[in-house]
Amino acid sequence: MADLLARKSLDVLMTEASEEGEHTLKRALSALNLVALGIGAIIGAGIFVLTGAAAAQFGGPAIILSYILAGTACVFAGLCYAEFAALIPIAGSAYTYGYSTLGEIFAWIIGWDLILEYAFGAATVGSGWSGTVAALLSDFGITISGKYINTPGTDLVWFHDKWELLTSPALLNVSKDAIALLPHGTAVFNIVAFVGILAVTAILVVGIKESANFNTIIVFIKLFAVAVFIGVAGHYVFNHMDAARANWTPFIPPRIDGQYGWPGIVTGAGVVFFAYIGFDAVSTAAQEAKNPQRDMPIGIMGSLIVCTILYIIVSGLLTAVVPYKSLNVPAPVSLAMQTIGIGWGSILVDAGAFAGLTTVMLVMLLGQSRVFFSMAKDGLLWKWAGEIHPKFRTPWKSTIIVGIFVAFFAAVVPIGILGQLVSIGTLLAFIIVSAGVWMLRVKRPDLPRPFKTPLVPFVPIMAILLCGYLMYGLPGDTWIRLFVWMAIGFVVYFTYSVKHSKVQQAVTSGTHPSGD
Ligand code: ALA
Repeated sequence: MADLLARKSLDVLMTEASEEGEHTLKRALSALNLVALGIGAIIGAGIFVLTGAAAAQFGGPAIILSYILAGTACVFAGLCYAEFAALIPIAGSAYTYGYSTLGEIFAWIIGWDLILEYAFGAATVGSGWSGTVAALLSDFGITISGKYINTPGTDLVWFHDKWELLTSPALLNVSKDAIALLPHGTAVFNIVAFVGILAVTAILVVGIKESANFNTIIVFIKLFAVAVFIGVAGHYVFNHMDAARANWTPFIPPRIDGQYGWPGIVTGAGVVFFAYIGFDAVSTAAQEAKNPQRDMPIGIMGSLIVCTILYIIVSGLLTAVVPYKSLNVPAPVSLAMQTIGIGWGSILVDAGAFAGLTTVMLVMLLGQSRVFFSMAKDGLLWKWAGEIHPKFRTPWKSTIIVGIFVAFFAAVVPIGILGQLVSIGTLLAFIIVSAGVWMLRVKRPDLPRPFKTPLVPFVPIMAILLCGYLMYGLPGDTWIRLFVWMAIGFVVYFTYSVKHSKVQQAVTSGTHPSGD
């Protein structure tokens, strides 16, 4: 009978973390690389795409409060991640933390759950990425047919010499009857998303240093775009105080039809939580950091704090420049630039969005392959997933398989609902990690912790409560999908993993160390 709560010994983990050589990941990342990885994973579809709809539908100008609420939950969870990432600097991140504190079955639940965050997250962002490529190219007069930037079967209409989605802002002022008379068609395959994900996968296979350098350069482009937006919009608001005040009044629109008011702020926080996802991906690069004990907390908290501040400023300026009801568009930040009347600004923002979504895909795919790598090394997944390329020193097989799967997924599966599934999966991981930090403090107060989460148990409890609150606000359908996904995971665990688990084999042979 398997011991489902068998834990992986912390001493074994610490030895694994310090292994060196050809079959190990390469330690090449500096603190700056890690902060850039975090920002790379964080700033993307959330701020550039979702903010507009969240403000228009749920928060109004108070979407800024939604950002503060979601950001606070993430800061609490981030402080917990930082303690673990410095203590157990292993590529498996939350999966490994769960293995050492809660036991194998919980580790499996987190590992399987992280697929929702990283693989599905990359697919969701990849699907949106094709839209940003199209927007950027159209700034230069190049059109990509709507047939190749949407999932198969999506309804399109032929309007002004191109295939448009029925929800396109271009059709906003066209009557339903007129739309019915336009030629109709359906999308074939999101080939742009497919190729984009495969290209990013190729960079990840070639090397961690190459990937990190590519990421750092692109992160600067997106930060530059965000900084220019803040400068331009801040200047505009300063000179148009009356208009800005009018757009911000009332700051919390009264509750109507299930929208706005305090409940709207909370629902908005659940939506914009997506914008923060990714800082935890820094911890999956722990085995590739030069000095993980010192730099993991810097990477996690540094990137999270920078992005939280930027998000609060950007969302505030956005609703000050554009009346919130007009923000329900796919490119709200670019729309604000157009409202201000700065054409080059909206091109720059489109470039920033393109850069932003590219690095999100990169770091999410990096995170996924590292989690698979760790699970495979523990025997919970097939051995090939843990193989390191002798020259590139990357987990190349898991990177390629994950990349192909995600590319296909992004190209054919409609992603509307996936975003929420990504959020619920991530929130669950945050809750388990926060509980794990608290538990380990009680069980092993003696461990040498290079970074200590402050005010334990207050901080873990706040992380659990706030993340739980955000989960609670997500729709019932999303919960059902989460349970279905977990049920599939249990089938895999009980038919394969439990039989091949190294910890279970050690338990059976009586060689498993106990006591921590
Ligand atoms: N935080 C990432 C984004 O907003 C997932 O795209």
